[in-house]
Amino acid sequence: MKKYFVIGNPINHSLSPKLHNYWLKENKIDAIYDKKKIEEKNLQTIISKVKEKKIDGINVTVPFKKVVIPFLDKLSIEAEQTQSVNTIILKDNNLEGHNTDITGFAKAIKKLNFNLEGKKVFILGAGGVVPSIIFALNTMKVSKIIISNRTRQKAENLKMLFNNLNILEWGKVEDFDVIINATSLGLNNEEINLDFSNIGNDKLFYDVIYNPSETKFLREGRRLGNKVENGKLMFVYQAYEAFKLWHGLEPEINEHTLKILEDD
Ligand code: ATR
Repeated sequence: MKKYFVIGNPINHSLSPKLHNYWLKENKIDAIYDKKKIEEKNLQTIISKVKEKKIDGINVTVPFKKVVIPFLDKLSIEAEQTQSVNTIILKDNNLEGHNTDITGFAKAIKKLNFNLEGKKVFILGAGGVVPSIIFALNTMKVSKIIISNRTRQKAENLKMLFNNLNILEWGKVEDFDVIINATSLGLNNEEINLDFSNIGNDKLFYDVIYNPSETKFLREGRRLGNKVENGKLMFVYQAYEAFKLWHGLEPEINEHTLKILEDD
């Protein structure tokens, strides 16, 4: 039986095992997908198990998406440019690092039928998933990306990867067409203390968080007359892309797939 893991710290909240195991069963693949909380010092050991064929694939989540890179032999172009890996696979005896968050985000946005070309996008946060979102936004030809993070230095670090970023001081709001919450604020029902009352309506408020399904950020966006969307489809599509890489087939995404993520 093949073995797959998602590794991170914390990892308890991860719904990846539920989704992957569901698809494995649906596709009659003899494999199991589990989650493993690990410490950074144990990263090399677990990754080397993929090379030894004791593990067949690994998904990587916060906070290890960048620090796994030195242990890999090859990176996809997307993983290289974002310095972010969320899927590891052994190919021709090489440990390959891929980034499926980018396609995950792009496909989720496409599903919304919201054309981002020429739009101003305001990103809140500079954590693990943000380089992937920026990469995807650049392929969508947005006109401007503004980023604001409590710790300004992390936004400055991102600007070294993507020189088209405009950094805004945390707490300020600038005109935008789309706003993306990529902070962890909202996971525990916290508010984001930003004033959106002057930005007008018909914008897109997007939250990377999907549990709770409507954060206070999204509720406020909706109250002000904007389109809102949570990160559930992005999560499903990044898993879909990883599944495709490992198993060479496309798992089905339907209402039931989305439903199983709710029954916790
Ligand atoms: P990591 O930063 O380890 O990659 P993450 O969950 O991907 O973790 O990112 C958390 C994001 O939420 C960061 O942008 C963080 O801001 P800092 O870089 O300043 O830590 C942001 N965040 C978390 N708590 C916050 C708070 N109380 N106010 C503002 N931003 C917060």
